[in-house]
Amino acid sequence: MKTYLDLSELGMSFTTEHGVFEALTGVNLKIEKGEFISLIGHSGCGKSTVLNLVAGLLEPSQGGIILDGREVDGPGPERAMVFQNHALLPWLSVHQNVELAVRRRVMGREEVAEQVHYFLSLVQMEHASHKMPHEISGGMKQRVGIARALSLSPKVLLMDEPFGALDALTRAHLQDALMAIQAELGNTVIMITHDVDEAVLLSDRIIMMTNGPAATVGEILAVNLPRPRDRVALADDPAYHKLRQQVLRFLYEKQRKVTQLKTATGGVIRRTA
Ligand SMILES: Nc1ncnc2c1ncn2[C@@H]1O[C@H](COP(=O)(O)OP(=O)(O)OP(=O)(O)O)[C@@H](O)[C@H]1O
Ligand SMILES: [Mg+2]
Repeated sequence: MKTYLDLSELGMSFTTEHGVFEALTGVNLKIEKGEFISLIGHSGCGKSTVLNLVAGLLEPSQGGIILDGREVDGPGPERAMVFQNHALLPWLSVHQNVELAVRRRVMGREEVAEQVHYFLSLVQMEHASHKMPHEISGGMKQRVGIARALSLSPKVLLMDEPFGALDALTRAHLQDALMAIQAELGNTVIMITHDVDEAVLLSDRIIMMTNGPAATVGEILAVNLPRPRDRVALADDPAYHKLRQQVLRFLYEKQRKVTQLKTATGGVIRRTA
């Protein structure tokens, strides 16, 4: 298959008051059109940085990103982001936040209203459509953020822990909705998650990132479970549990290494140059 999104020798250093901090180095990843990719790894290992680079919100210090044959050199409408700490426009209501996104694609009044209705009901937020962002909870804001990103119908959907702040039932509902939408529209998705079950359920491949010094891609796990996937059926599937174990083992191994490194350096992991 042809590479659609190509992250090549990607590196990111931040200049801070303590010096240059090398957050990422040598990230290589080739993604096919329509693939669902999860990024998993310990806090601070550079997952959001990878997503921000693909979104074009950060400029890489080394290497580059090619999307559909063109170099990423800034944000673009074909890439939509669901942020880790939601980012709604505070002066617009829930309805208006989604409407603004919908209007990028459709113009007719009725169609706009129909689509806003569709995406808000998908995330079960219709009842609060008139409310302002400061009047709704964190999980509700997150759901509106998801509705907004989906309503852009982007070729590449970038999601930074999109379901982290949600209760288990809402989370399961949105995971299923996301799988159904992706199957229908064929978007390419990169999602960050800390939830191993979520990663296995949704992904075609799980990218497991190593942390410090200078994070990079550790192991890549292909999830060859047939689609459509059903969470209840998978609970009894040995292949599902094997994949889950593989991810957990990777995470525990990495945690042990970091703890050892911290002990050896007196609690400090130096990455400054
Ligand atoms: N603008 C910045 N300036 C300096 N350092 C930064 C900046 N952004 C991120 N970092 C550092 O880069 C590293 C990676 O951060 P990043 O936010 O990508 O981690 P993450 O894997 O998304 O973590 P989490 O799971 O906690 O969200 C961290 O050590 C962080 O402190
Ligand atoms: Mg993050």
